[in-house]
Amino acid sequence: MGSRKLRVGIVGAGSVATDCHVPGWLAHPDVEIAAICDINKRAAVTLAAAAGATQVLTDYKKLAALKEIDIVDVCTPNRAHTPVVKAALAAGKHVICEKPLAVSVRDVQAMGRLARAKRRKLMTAQHYRYSPMAIAGKRFLGSGGLGTPYHARVYATRSNLVPTGYGFIDESLSGGGPCMDIGVHALDLCMHLMDFPKPVRVSGSARVNFAKGRSIRGAWGQWNRRRFTVEDFASGFVHFDNGATMALEASWLGHQEDTEDISTLIYGTGGTIQWPTGKYWSTRDGVAYATQLTEPDGLPRAYTAELHAFYDCVVNQKPSPVPWEQTVQVIAILEGIYKSSRTGREIKIKL
Ligand SMILES: NC(=O)c1ccc[n+]([C@@H]2O[C@H](COP(=O)([O-])OP(=O)(O)OC[C@H]3O[C@@H](n4cnc5c(N)ncnc54)[C@H](O)[C@@H]3O)[C@@H](O)[C@H]2O)c1
Repeated sequence: MGSRKLRVGIVGAGSVATDCHVPGWLAHPDVEIAAICDINKRAAVTLAAAAGATQVLTDYKKLAALKEIDIVDVCTPNRAHTPVVKAALAAGKHVICEKPLAVSVRDVQAMGRLARAKRRKLMTAQHYRYSPMAIAGKRFLGSGGLGTPYHARVYATRSNLVPTGYGFIDESLSGGGPCMDIGVHALDLCMHLMDFPKPVRVSGSARVNFAKGRSIRGAWGQWNRRRFTVEDFASGFVHFDNGATMALEASWLGHQEDTEDISTLIYGTGGTIQWPTGKYWSTRDGVAYATQLTEPDGLPRAYTAELHAFYDCVVNQKPSPVPWEQTVQVIAILEGIYKSSRTGREIKIKL
């Protein structure tokens, strides 16, 4: 790579690429966006113009084959991640891919093993880890401030926000509803804060309560009821090998106070912490008290920070900031919730 700028090719020129990845890469002085690929040519042309990219493609295999590209950034709908990531790794590119990296353990492992064989970096874009309070929380837990974590609650619930694109509501494209879409954010962050205890058993339920009807209006517009083939609510319960447990809830529609609640509570023997508020509860000399973590100032937008962390790991040969070995545990839990819901049984996780 020498001292030249790293060249990025983006596959999937939709919302997240336009609003988050292109501005994030453009903010890095040593990166240029060389190519944009989308099956919708007009979307690719529009984003290439905004990104200053000279190459426009409609076939991800052709983008993966471009010699001048160092990094492939995958922003397609969930089920389209695996083929694109595999093609890019097989062509010798480093890959950052939007969450969820894949919707099955098998696919995450296949990508991870390929990255290992090709000695290329693979990162899941879990930008919540780069939010200031997540950084403060990680430091606090790392210093032992919570004692031993023994239970967590993970919330990713919305009252009336259904992403209306088929890439989210059609199971054949998304692999799941709010559980895969936003549950994955809060779950990954909670696991990261808890230092990735190993999940061993999961049970759960995924169901449609409101999305086939019209009792709750979506603030993001109408969705196609017929194409809606995912859940609008999911819940899960997880056991870890260290005896800790976790309860998870995810929804796009439901009756609740907040429009969106993406948060986690981690209970430890030394105290309980809440993200993203940074609230902390404990006792001293038998007296209960509450306090508040302070978040670091002056950090870049989390979406930008995650991309720059990936640049750093590629250039300075550091471990992937969000390695597939962690993501596989997150996906095992989410996949387990769906399997448990289908079978009515608790699912054993063997990784
Ligand atoms: N990290 C976050 O906060 C966040 C936010 C939104 C979306 N996402 C994730 O990003 C991904 C994309 O979401 P979005 O909101 O940008 O969706 P989107 O529907 O706006 O865009 C997806 C784009 O991918 C294109 N596409 C589909 N299959 C393709 C293929 N095989 N090759 C090339 N292009 C293809 C589509 O034409 C579309 O333009 C999803 O995995 C989603 O979960 C993450």
